[in-house]
Formats: sequence, structure tokens, C-alpha cells
Amino acid sequence: MCGIVGYVGEGEKKEILLSGLRELEYRGYDSAGIALMDQAGIHHFKAAGKLSYLEAKTAEFTSASFGIGIGHTRWATHGKPNEINAHPHLGKYSFVVHNGIIENYQELKGRLQKKGVSFLSQTDTEVIVHLFEYYNEIHTDPFCAFEKTIGDLQGAYAILLITKASPNHIFFAKEGSPLILGTDAQNHVYIGSSDAALIGKAHTVTYLEDGQYGRVYKGALEIFVQGKQILPPMVPLQRNTLYAQKEGYRFFMEKEIYEQSSVLSNAMLGRLREKDIFFEEITPSFLSHISHITFCACGTSYHAALSAAYLFERLAQVSTSVEIASEFRYKKPYIQEGTLFIVISQSGETADTLEALKRAKRSTAKTLAICNVDNSSIVRTADTTLLTRAGIEKGVASTKAFATQMLVLWMLALEMGKETMTSTEYAENIRALRKIPTATQVSTETHERIQRLSKRYLHGHGFFFIGRDIFYPLALEGALKLKEISYLHAEGYPSGEMKHGPIALVDSELFTICLMPKTTLYEKNRSNVEELSARDATICAITPEPFSLADDLIYTKHTEHPMCEFFEMMVVLQLLSLEIAIRLGNDVDMPRNLAKSVTVE
Ligand code: G6P
Repeated sequence: MCGIVGYVGEGEKKEILLSGLRELEYRGYDSAGIALMDQAGIHHFKAAGKLSYLEAKTAEFTSASFGIGIGHTRWATHGKPNEINAHPHLGKYSFVVHNGIIENYQELKGRLQKKGVSFLSQTDTEVIVHLFEYYNEIHTDPFCAFEKTIGDLQGAYAILLITKASPNHIFFAKEGSPLILGTDAQNHVYIGSSDAALIGKAHTVTYLEDGQYGRVYKGALEIFVQGKQILPPMVPLQRNTLYAQKEGYRFFMEKEIYEQSSVLSNAMLGRLREKDIFFEEITPSFLSHISHITFCACGTSYHAALSAAYLFERLAQVSTSVEIASEFRYKKPYIQEGTLFIVISQSGETADTLEALKRAKRSTAKTLAICNVDNSSIVRTADTTLLTRAGIEKGVASTKAFATQMLVLWMLALEMGKETMTSTEYAENIRALRKIPTATQVSTETHERIQRLSKRYLHGHGFFFIGRDIFYPLALEGALKLKEISYLHAEGYPSGEMKHGPIALVDSELFTICLMPKTTLYEKNRSNVEELSARDATICAITPEPFSLADDLIYTKHTEHPMCEFFEMMVVLQLLSLEIAIRLGNDVDMPRNLAKSVTVE
């Protein structure tokens, strides 16, 4: 979702803020803005659209004297993505940037309007700056006015506020949206809504908790909880940014597809031993007395959860349920004794998943996060975490994060199933695991074939992606990938379900992407695809077998294990979406209307 940065020091403030925003832009890119304050006063710039517009607008501006600054890149929630609604929002002498949603902004706005305050934007955020100035007139102590302001806010927020009334400070507050403060050896202060914005700048950081607020000034962080100052725990920040560059690929998504083979090896390191699985993060008692597993996630991570449920039931013989986090959190869920509650999240910041996890923590369930971002809110909340080690994922359409989630979940299913599986079955799985880095290597031949084929799939009235068993969630994921970046209508279905309704849509302009693995229900699938072919659907089969009814075939390798087929087909689906979207001229890494990290519900 939106990205926030802040800085206090004598560096070139504009550059520091813009470079932080560049790292966060993939999270939201409807508009961007910065506000800086130094001896010369307050300057602010905003631009609709991607960050490059703001960069062009500020090209001539320099700001290399001591001062403070805040910046924001936006994913619109309230009000259109235009310049007026871009952050920072201004009052008479103060500016604010905000991530999250102020749920009671209408009520607060009404109160202020009655007192003669006029509003420029349609955002919920603007209310914060006017409320602050209103309290500042009454209290005359700006920090006290800030405390009063956040006391009135309901909802989720990470806020930075600067004001002429307190020219050397940035005020901040966190409730439900991430915020990180850091410092370097020269006592400069850096703030970001993700540590990606601080990498290479801050040396030590503190990850704020909900309810914390305070002020920063040169070399000092003052953090409060309910009026009492606390000493923040400072931890070193990893400083390597190299892995977030495109390295010659056309898009981050493409690079991330190619990286899968190596990040999957990474995810196995130390965990896949010669004959078994070992997770140092998990004690034997953590996995004992588990009678049910609930998986909970959103988006692509939800698809990983769906596939995992098949694996856990089959390998570990434990009952499972899979929940979409936004539904789970409000359904007054019944969480039975003996439940292991597994949340899956790339970012570790998805608001719905985090809230679902907090709900589970209030029950007797043990909680486990499968997550890609260490120190994220979800990691800090769960009892235990298995990190997926995919490295920073920048493409909004998730690829390598999904791959590593699947791998870690599969290994965990094996760990839980070691007593229930036969030794042969267990050994087969261990052997198959070792083959995954090879199965996910992108072959030039396959990529070129998909590139050529993609030109046939740019029109039509929609796509069905179909599969059975674990390949059904993979079909859902294939459809999601395609719609995210191509804006074409696509749905995933279990192959056997087509005849119960969806088949009514079939004609030659309906493209059906059929996952036909040889290891899993091949004949059943084949019959379903024949039914579609008989109704003149255009069939693109992804399979190791020749199939005469297919209009197009993308061959995968013959292998003995379903998971090898699963991972290889996953890569094919990712490449197919990528190539279709590129031919359509779309910005693959920043598709319209989407954001990488969804920190609002
Ligand atoms: C957003 C992203 C998706 C992602 C989903 C869940 O919608 O665009 O790619 O799958 O959030 O995110 P998480 O970080 O929790 O996996």
C-alpha cells in the first residue's frame, strides 16, 4: 500500500526522500509528494502518477542544509489519485503524510468544518493536519497537540507530521500500519514504512509497535506509549541493496521468475538434510498435539494455503481448513482446541492477515507465520515463523514468494507427516525436493515458445485455468497472475467443475489453459478437457504428454513426482502471464489499481 519516508539531518533531503520513495514505490504509485523544512522555510511538491513525475518536478530543487523532510507514495483509498489528494496534506503551517485509513474522518471533518476549517482534498488524511493545528491553537505546545490529535483518531495509521510550530521535529505515530525509525553514525534520522527505504542509510533501527508515537530530531528518537517515554530496542539493519536491482531483465517480475531456482535452494538450506527435514525454528513440542490446521491468507498467499491443505491432509493426515483473512476476521470463527493456525504472507504486513492472526492468538491455537519479511508485523506477532527467504520481491504480481511459500509448506507437511507416511513415500518426497531448483530453472526454449504463443492470447472474452488436486489452486494462481498484469478476465476452476455451469461460456473465443500433469489424475483431466474441446474451446494444454485436441501445447518434463510437475507448471503460468502482459504494453511491475503490500483492510 502507500509508502512513507522521513529524514532529519544535513544531507540532501530531497534526494534522500526520493531515494527512499523509489524503494517503496512498488507498494503504491497513484501519486507522490514530499515536504521539507529548513532555515529557508517549508517547501512542498506533489505530482499525480508515478514517482518519475515528482522527480521531474523537483529536478531543479536542492536542499542540502540541516532540516527535516517527509515523503509519501500513494495507493488511493479515499479520493481520486490526483495531485490534490496526494500527500503531504497541508494545513496553515503543517504537513502530514499517512498510511492506513482514518475510519472516523467524516465525523472529525464535520467537527472541524463547523469551526470554519475548509478542506481541499477528498482524503481521510487531511483531517489529521487540521485537527493538529486546531489543538495547537488551544494548547500551544505542538507535541501535546499531536498527542491530542492521535487520541481522536480511529482506524489504522502510520503518520508523520512536520510543523513550523516545532521546526526541528518530525512527529510520528503508529497504529496498525508499519513504521520504522533508524539512525546512522552521523546521527541522521531515517523513517520508513518498510525497512527497504532505510537500507543503505540507517545502521540501526527500531520497529515501532502499535500505540507508539513520539518525535524525532537530530540524533534523537523519543518514543512514548500512553504518555510514558520508553527506550526503543535498536537492532542492526541489513545493508545489502544489490538484490533489488533489475539486472538486465525487462521487469522485476521477469527477474524474480528467473531467480526462483536459486531462492528455492536458499529456502532449503539447513532445512533439507540428507534424509529428513529440520526446522531449527520449530521445537518438537510445537508440532505435538495438533489435531487441526487452519491456513489463513490473502491473494497469492491464499492460493499457497489452498495447495498446502492438500499436502497436509495427504502427507500428515491432519484435517485442515483454509480461510481468506478478510472473511475470517469478522466471522466470529470457532477455533477448536489443538489447532495450529498458519498465516501465510509475503509482506508480513497485510492488514487482514495480521488481524486474523491476532484473533487466533486470543484463542488456544498455536500460531505460525510463513513469511518472507523478517521483523514484519506478522512475524513479530506469531508464536513462531518460518521465513521463506525469497529476498525482496518487487513485482506486484507475486512469483518467487509463492514458490518459496509452497516449498516451505511442503517441507512442513513432511515434517508433520514423518510418522504417518511410509518410509518409501517420505524418501520419494525428499528426493523430489532436491529436484525443485532444477524443475524451476527457466529454459530458453520454453520461454521463447511461450513468448511466441502469447500473441494468440491477447483478445477473446476470457480465460479459464483448470486443474485438479494441487493443480486446481495452481490454476487459480495462474488466473490471478494473468488478470493482475494483463487486465484480461480469467478464472480458475477445478477441471471436474466446469460442467456444473462454467462450460456454458465455452466457445472458440474462450481460452482454456489446462494443467494436465501426468502424475496426478491425468485421465480424469483429459476427459474434462475433451468435453471442452468438443464445444470448440481454444485449448492451451500444459503437459508432458502429446495431446491431439490441444490448439497449443506447452510441454513440461516427464517426472515421477507431482510436486516437480507443480513447480514446473507454476513457472510456465508465470511466464505466460508475463509475456501476454508485455505484448499488451502494460507496466508489469506496477499494474493499474494494485499495490504490493495491502496495509488497509
Ligand atoms: C496484494 C498483492 C498480492 C498478494 C496479496 C497478499 O494483493 O498484490 O500479490 O498476494 O496482497 O499479500 P501478502 O504480502 O500477505 O502475501
